[in-house]
Amino acid sequence: MEQTLSIIKPDAVAKNVVGKILDRFESNGLRLAATKKIQLSKADAEAFYAVHAERPFYGELVDFMISGPVVVSVLEGENAMAKNRDLMGATNPKEAAAGTIRADFAESIDANAVHGSDSLENAAIEINFFFAAKEIC
Ligand code: CMP
Repeated sequence: MEQTLSIIKPDAVAKNVVGKILDRFESNGLRLAATKKIQLSKADAEAFYAVHAERPFYGELVDFMISGPVVVSVLEGENAMAKNRDLMGATNPKEAAAGTIRADFAESIDANAVHGSDSLENAAIEINFFFAAKEIC
């Protein structure tokens, strides 16, 4: 049993499709071990995406992630990390396979509806960033 972190980004929250996206997870064998809606501060977003600090899109990414609330979740299930990435589709929605979350709900590589951990090591770090142990059950 694995756990991974999901973020439903400000574009998808603003579109009111949080329930539809959470249903994709639950309908595909992932369980919500934790979920909450939060407004990230600039410092939060900068710290969360620190790995991208040298990339040219870092400033826009941080500004976008604080443009409205996000919904963060811990997804749990067999192969949860890879399964979530399959359900999300490619980072650029124009390249995302039909039926994936990004193909169905995202507009651009910046406003791409969801984030998911890209390794089990990062999943543990990202889950710890947002959730206390007692919030995960
Ligand atoms: P995410 O999975 O949240 O991880 C970093 C984010 O940076 C990514 O999704 C995209 O929304 C955003 N981004 C913007 N431009 C790029 C790019 N050229 N390559 C990768 N990610 C990008």
